[in-house]
Amino acid sequence: MSFVTHLEGAIDGSRLEARQLATTHKDRPLLVRYDLPAVSRAISRDQLTARDATMWRYRELLPVEHNENIVTLGEGMTPLLPCPALGAALFKSFSSSSTPPQLFIKDESQLPTGSFKSRGLSVAVSMAKELGVKHIAIPTAGNAGGALAAYAARAGLEAFVFMPEDTPVVNQYEAALFGARAFLVNGLITDCAKIIREGADQFGWFDISTLKEPYRIEGKKTMGLELAEQLNWRLPNHIFYPTGGGTGLIGMWKAFSELQQIGWLDANADKPAMHACQSTGCAPIPAAFAQGERFADPAENAHTIASGLRVPKAIGDFLILDAIRESGGSARAIDEDSLTHWMRLTTTLEGISLCPEAAACVGAVARCAEQGAIQPGQSVVIFNTGAAQKYVEVIETKLPTLDHNKINWPLIKGA
Ligand SMILES: Cc1ncc(COP(=O)(O)O)c(C=O)c1O
Repeated sequence: MSFVTHLEGAIDGSRLEARQLATTHKDRPLLVRYDLPAVSRAISRDQLTARDATMWRYRELLPVEHNENIVTLGEGMTPLLPCPALGAALFKSFSSSSTPPQLFIKDESQLPTGSFKSRGLSVAVSMAKELGVKHIAIPTAGNAGGALAAYAARAGLEAFVFMPEDTPVVNQYEAALFGARAFLVNGLITDCAKIIREGADQFGWFDISTLKEPYRIEGKKTMGLELAEQLNWRLPNHIFYPTGGGTGLIGMWKAFSELQQIGWLDANADKPAMHACQSTGCAPIPAAFAQGERFADPAENAHTIASGLRVPKAIGDFLILDAIRESGGSARAIDEDSLTHWMRLTTTLEGISLCPEAAACVGAVARCAEQGAIQPGQSVVIFNTGAAQKYVEVIETKLPTLDHNKINWPLIKGA
């Protein structure tokens, strides 16, 4: 049971066959298209409530044909947490007579493998299984390697993970722990991608890199479907999303459009302003946005503690920039040195395990509030795409540690 009609080349709208292994078209992403009128006849919003609380409740808007190919660890339906204390800190410039904006964090750190990468890789690995792939490979700067390893293990497929030597240590170990053939490369993620291109030719590995196959977007799209359902089929005024390759932002924008077309969202209602958040250490999207460009120049000397944002060149750059502009949003580069401040502010005020990538979003909300881009009474959602615990090096070197709080027991000498 699949409502997929075809794949579409995002760069030129060309139509491609769906039920075969697909990568890119003209080196740009492919998008999955569905028979949306048939979807709206097949299921109603109300029928969803009886289904399991996982992202597979949106089955009709996902591409897998046979249920037995679904590879799942129960991912999805992450909480949308109100954040009044963080909101009070970020919106303190609003006058006390106005209704303050309402701040929420959609907490993706609670997903299997500790990051939102579970969503994309659950769908992409399911499709790879359905289409007969046996060996999958990924270049990763962080969380995607662990997630691929876990879903490949669950599917019984062989996974190859290539990561730069400075990939966070937890990401290195989790890939190996879940049984992937995990390799450290003394180069950049682009060098890891080159190794995979050669392996694909030589050993028949399937390359499951960000936006180089069409199905990870479909998994990430479920963040937008869930958000709409959790807000009772209305959307917030603003979404702040930590943008690397942009899969999540592109996926959510696609989700909102599909929901409008099947009539679950009001077709005339405003969609959220989408804000792409990056670090000054690697900010190709804000640079292109500021220059009015549709394609981004590669960022040079990319460096940031937010490893998921270290993407100097995204092949879906034009899709990110189109969505931002169409939505009336923005692209923001947040000072690299401030990321740990925003991380700590959120963890201590709200108890949410915020990753450094999402810390860029917290900084961007603060800046938008100062600049008047967020109005009184508006709703604001930040996506916390991963768990802070995965960044032990950042916590150890840049955030307060327990060193000063050691206790020599017994407390009173000689007692
Ligand atoms: C925690 C985290 N946040 C954000 C991103 C960027 O994701 P996207 O490709 O959807 O822009 C990544 C990607 O590695 C990540 O690991």
